[in-house]
Amino acid sequence: MDRVRVELGQRSYAISVGAGCLGHTLEAILGQLEPTSVHVVTHPALWRSWSGSLGSTASGAGVTLLRPGERHKHLGAVASILRGLADRGADRRCVVVALGGGVVGDVAGFASACYLRGVRFVQVPTTLLAQVDASVGGKTGVDLPQGKNLAGAFHQPSAVVIDTATLATLPPRHMRSGMAEILKHGIIADEAYFEFVTSRGARRWRPLPDWLEPVIAQSCRIKASVVSQDEREGGLRAILNFGHTVGHAIETLTQYREFSHGEAVAIGMVSAALVSERVCGAPADLVRRVMDGLSAYGLPWSLPPSCSDGEIVRVAMHDKKSSGGVLRMALTPGVGHATAMPVDAPILLDSLCRHRSLRPVGHGYG
Ligand SMILES: NC(=O)c1ccc[n+]([C@@H]2O[C@H](COP(=O)([O-])OP(=O)(O)OC[C@H]3O[C@@H](n4cnc5c(N)ncnc54)[C@H](O)[C@@H]3O)[C@@H](O)[C@H]2O)c1
Ligand SMILES: [Zn+2]
Repeated sequence: MDRVRVELGQRSYAISVGAGCLGHTLEAILGQLEPTSVHVVTHPALWRSWSGSLGSTASGAGVTLLRPGERHKHLGAVASILRGLADRGADRRCVVVALGGGVVGDVAGFASACYLRGVRFVQVPTTLLAQVDASVGGKTGVDLPQGKNLAGAFHQPSAVVIDTATLATLPPRHMRSGMAEILKHGIIADEAYFEFVTSRGARRWRPLPDWLEPVIAQSCRIKASVVSQDEREGGLRAILNFGHTVGHAIETLTQYREFSHGEAVAIGMVSAALVSERVCGAPADLVRRVMDGLSAYGLPWSLPPSCSDGEIVRVAMHDKKSSGGVLRMALTPGVGHATAMPVDAPILLDSLCRHRSLRPVGHGYG
């Protein structure tokens, strides 16, 4: 089993990564936390599949079942968790366990930040995306009708338990989505890791490849290191948004229907690589290397015809990450390094135009 520490002073915590580690690791963590009560938040199907793996934690725990899907990531879901905690008489020493993907983690984490002005919670991420990204770093929250993640809080978990065995039931498209964020970690922070992940490649996920566990641990290490240096996104943490400026714009313009988050980020990473060539002198082979990584996992890289370049720029300029009309993008001067820089709209527009003209080389692109 791998262990990664997120160093945040008094709010530091450990991430445990292992196949089949869930039951005993969670028991040990709860043994240390000594909660007065334990409350699991999950989806019905995940409770059916994985409550048995929670070991003794499942018996005696209160359970709140949320409906799955991004459209249920709203304040009503937070309210149902809070009411459940209050009905069960949970006090300040209770612990909430979030068993699920990024949606469960974000909602349960936010409810934990609110209940009695903050109770402890443990993340048990069950999607690849949540294991390498959403469960680490303490961002919690929900969507409002006006937009994604508009209400939230920073609230660090007490621990993260990643049991890679839970991925056995995850659909391949969700595996792919997580791989896009993993490739992103390599691009922004670790060239050897990027090369390793690109060289593996996978389209089938049964059985789970043996390299996945150390890869998840390394991605957690990269995210943990960035978060430790910038807990509340004052600066450095913005580099984690590599590929997300154009990715978010594509998600918004296609109403979250056409692409998964990871697929949209994959396309956005190619745009970000092209902007990086213009703005921070990235070498000419960067774009091709990014495309190679994406293609190894069957991720898309071309801009959808349904979104015009002008629309993408317009939405990107309104992204909540750009302020005062200045667009800031996470860019890379070369694989393994990243920086966040202001980008003028005409440069983004020109890069999107060059993105449209990219052609596959060899085989397997697109
Ligand atoms: N807090 C952060 O830092 C952060 C970072 C990235 C993303 N996010 C958030 O995460 C969310 C996306 O997370 P996601 O991609 O995990 O989606 P998700 O939580 O909606 O999960 C996707 C689907 O997979 C199902 N599922 C989960 N685990 C499964 C398993 N092991 N087997 C079978 N099915 C399983 C879920 O029930 C759901 O239907 C978004 O809301 C996003 O905003 C948060
Ligand atoms: Zn993302």
